[in-house]
Amino acid sequence: MEKYYAKISGTGRGIPDKILNNFDLEKIVDTTDEWIKTRTGMFERHVADDDKACSDYATMAAEKALQSADLNARDLDMIIVGTVTADYAFPSTACIVMRNLGIRNIPAFDVSAGCPGWIYTSNIAKQYVENGMYENVLVIGADMLTKITNYKDRNTCILFGDGAGATIISRASDIDISRIIDADITADGSYWDLLVQPGGGSKMPASYKSVRERKHTVHMEGNKVFKLAVKSMYNSCDKVLKRNNLTNSSIDWVIPHQANMRIIDALARKMKLDKSQVIVNIEKYANTSAATIPVALDEFIRSGKIRHGDIVLMTSFGAGLTSGSILVRI
Ligand code: ACO
Repeated sequence: MEKYYAKISGTGRGIPDKILNNFDLEKIVDTTDEWIKTRTGMFERHVADDDKACSDYATMAAEKALQSADLNARDLDMIIVGTVTADYAFPSTACIVMRNLGIRNIPAFDVSAGCPGWIYTSNIAKQYVENGMYENVLVIGADMLTKITNYKDRNTCILFGDGAGATIISRASDIDISRIIDADITADGSYWDLLVQPGGGSKMPASYKSVRERKHTVHMEGNKVFKLAVKSMYNSCDKVLKRNNLTNSSIDWVIPHQANMRIIDALARKMKLDKSQVIVNIEKYANTSAATIPVALDEFIRSGKIRHGDIVLMTSFGAGLTSGSILVRI
């Protein structure tokens, strides 16, 4: 059987215009710019317009990714969106993006994998491209966490922002140096209750009580998640590096999930990474869940910092508790 390779052929991002900074949050909850900056590294976050949903920013990101890959929407073979804040419980956001792009009759679906949503979906796309079935898959990580944030809970409301990042995963030609080298995804469901939106699903359908008690928002045991975050991202990166006989020095860039600067620093220390290898934009966007990595990837490719041929290791963790890594030569 012929062996094919997959590569990232285009990237794009869709970011809301509206900005909420730490000083704005000081007016909403009992917090300070100083606390947020020192405990999380965040300063501002973008917030989706009231009349816009996940699919709007996902489409914006997709159009830019198609443009940068020099492709037309009609060249796509499949659409996958990693999100926990889909427009609707059903249909999938991927199907709405499909209509927005003006195409029909290809598979389209969402994946619920928390913050590693883009890593999960990229790994799925990689399988379809490598087995020769598809040539171009649109893979999006998009979340609108501010839509499910409890702005009376200072423990969580300072953490989240909205955004979408899109990538096109395409078949690599024989002479291409760009390639998805490896990917790893996993989950430990024993921790599912550390990070959950309790209301709105079949366990707790919407009711006056569920709305009154703000059950339709993010509920998180931050401290416990913090500890598991470093461990799970480290283990996943270690697995991917080891099975490809690589060390830190072979990696040009690491893009960790942007959930907390202290988590990023702890991971960098544990992996013995040089600070200059680690990509951070948490101060501008905060935690945009499945979007943090594809947004950072797009931003740093467009700014010329990440260049053709660079090796980039991306890693994430989130609700589930899910985790994963993807190793790419750009
Ligand atoms: N402003 C001021 N004080 C605050 C705030 C705030 N916004 N939030 C909490 N505090 C207080 C607490 O009440 C507590 O006060 P106390 O000591 O008097 O009780 C004190 O600060 C310390 O609280 P901790 O919860 O111990 O603070 P910690 O240093 O752990 O930081 C944080 C909290 C930022 C949530 C951290 O635990 C974290 O980042 N966890 C991981 C979050 C994450 O990555 N989630 C996964 C992704 S989200 C997703 O997948 C949808």
